[in-house]
Amino acid sequence: MFNTTTYVKRRDRLKKQVGSGILLFLGNEDSPMNYTDNPYHFRQDSTFLYYFGLNSAGLNAIMDLDEDREVIFGNELTIDDIVWMGTQPSLQEKSRMVGIKETAPAAELKEYIEKVKKKQGKIHFLPPYRAEHSVKYFNLLGIYPEETAGSASVEFIKAVVAQRNIKSEEEVAEIEKAVNTSADMHIAAMKLAKAGMTEAEVAAVVEQIALASGGQISFPVIATIHGETLHNHYHGNTLKEGDMFLLDAGAETAMGYAGDLSSTFPVGKKFSSRQKEVYNIALAAHEAAVAALKPGVKFKDIHLLACKTIASGMKDMGFMRGDVDEAVAAGAHALFFQCGTGHMMGLDVHDMENLGEAYVGYDGENKSTQFGLKSLRLARELKPGYVLTIEPGIYFIPELIDMWKAEKKLTQFINYDKVETYKDFGGLRNEEDFLITSGGYKLLGKPVPKTIDEVEILR
Ligand code: GLY
Ligand code: MN
Repeated sequence: MFNTTTYVKRRDRLKKQVGSGILLFLGNEDSPMNYTDNPYHFRQDSTFLYYFGLNSAGLNAIMDLDEDREVIFGNELTIDDIVWMGTQPSLQEKSRMVGIKETAPAAELKEYIEKVKKKQGKIHFLPPYRAEHSVKYFNLLGIYPEETAGSASVEFIKAVVAQRNIKSEEEVAEIEKAVNTSADMHIAAMKLAKAGMTEAEVAAVVEQIALASGGQISFPVIATIHGETLHNHYHGNTLKEGDMFLLDAGAETAMGYAGDLSSTFPVGKKFSSRQKEVYNIALAAHEAAVAALKPGVKFKDIHLLACKTIASGMKDMGFMRGDVDEAVAAGAHALFFQCGTGHMMGLDVHDMENLGEAYVGYDGENKSTQFGLKSLRLARELKPGYVLTIEPGIYFIPELIDMWKAEKKLTQFINYDKVETYKDFGGLRNEEDFLITSGGYKLLGKPVPKTIDEVEILR
């Protein structure tokens, strides 16, 4: 947990920003895997963590801007809780550590809300992303689950996003810790993966490093010889000479801050010449995107620069043809690069995605519906303090190739005869995490081998 003043200052700023009404914060509950007493690892809601810092289940809170009160609602441990789960400081004691003087039993939240409703006070709440949130909103506010997302407070969302999008120095230090652990996870995988191992064996080593750091993984590990599947969580394949291995994995610190890195390496000692050629195109797109990072630049333009670099490389190799700018404007590059160049990162690996990409990544601008561009999570103008990922890649997805080819889609830009010969190529990407600074950018964490030579040395 940070110092008390961090949480007090964060809340003060939010209160000033929103001005009136009450702000309702739902902490997370334990989430059962297969029966109540067998829960998943507990993960607190990130906005709750940001303003209240307490990392335990069963808490909710309000900031009452009209009556100048801040209350955390939750139950003190019973003797049964202590017998089964051990003791810990009281809610009173924990709340004081984050500058909150008032606590109340969990059940009193409903009474508090009822009083506010009687006075016709405005109750601001955030969109739900777990079923338990929808149930709580129904019980507290009488709003049906299908209506909660639509009636969440845009004012509250925008105020939280404006604050959380800009990372403080102490947050950057914490993120850097997560990225350094993430780098260790990647370097270990690069050193140990070899033909005959299963993907699961590599994933296990990677995950072990995250756990040993005192935190956990920031999202389910992607450790695959089928990198063309963007979020591939299947770990049942056996590695063989000639395959490429794509690892997308990150650690989360005990305080909840994320790292998110990707790397691609050959299962054998060396990349094949055709792997090298495609790898270097994605790497060129990566380097071009990084070099363009600075305040005032729209991330959408950085994404388009990465797309054009990929399209240009794919044209040189004979996969694409025609004018590169026109091909990217038409979305032809998305046959090979179907997703976005990066996303915000912080207490969530895709930071605040639960509050809505329109607010976090687009600042109200409309998102494209074009295949490829519609998956870009971040488009807005960059500001100092933003933390984001850069992760362009190249993916040969057989089903997508077959579909586009059958539709004769964008044949003026795509040479399907050549693409056919790479249908079993797979996919690759590198990913790094950056802080936007007033002068440009800073790479977060220690570098992971990225050029062909650097990667092959570790193999
Ligand atoms: N690392 C997973 C993702 O960015 O989607
Ligand atoms: Mn990512």
